[in-house]
Amino acid sequence: MAEKIKVMIPQEKVDQRIREMGEQISKDYEGKQIHLICILKGGVFFTTELAKHICVPVSFDFMAVSSYGDKTVSSGRIKIIKDLDDPVEGKDVLIVEDIIDSGRTLSHLMELLKNRKPASLKLCTLLDKPECRVTDIAVDYTGFSIPDAFVVGYGLDYAQKYRNLPYIGEIKFED
Ligand code: IMP
Ligand code: MG
Repeated sequence: MAEKIKVMIPQEKVDQRIREMGEQISKDYEGKQIHLICILKGGVFFTTELAKHICVPVSFDFMAVSSYGDKTVSSGRIKIIKDLDDPVEGKDVLIVEDIIDSGRTLSHLMELLKNRKPASLKLCTLLDKPECRVTDIAVDYTGFSIPDAFVVGYGLDYAQKYRNLPYIGEIKFED
């Protein structure tokens, strides 16, 4: 089956929105230092672009998690592939994610990080698919709400491909 990518959000729109988010975050965190936690791998393009538009001091850490498959008993739980390098205790933590779909990954991750006693814990996502949500999760900063489609680009992959596209595209399969 051939894959075709249809542009959903063009590069200029994504870049503009990220700039606005950076400005908003800078205002909200005035006088503080933000500890950005990038969720690998998808969050990496968004994190670096966002950070360029934040004008309060920023430190970074990275975490990689995977969801257990739906067929396992522990469905909905997450497995830590790479944990943070540094403690988050007492820090103003902002999690940066590429997309929130069911919300399962993030709701477990938020719980886990809350237990490590950050001074504050907020969530920022480039994309949100609110129709797909199965958990109650508060998102503090959302780039774009999109319909239930499979999207790639700006960090998001299909079978590890297309992360480097500078726009958000919807993947279509044709035979
Ligand atoms: P959740 O636990 O269902 O919210 O899963 C979110 C994760 O699923 C994201 O961090 C992505 O890695 C992946 N994901 C969900 N929707 C898409 C999509 O449309 N394209 C690429 N990856 C996606
Ligand atoms: Mg992800």
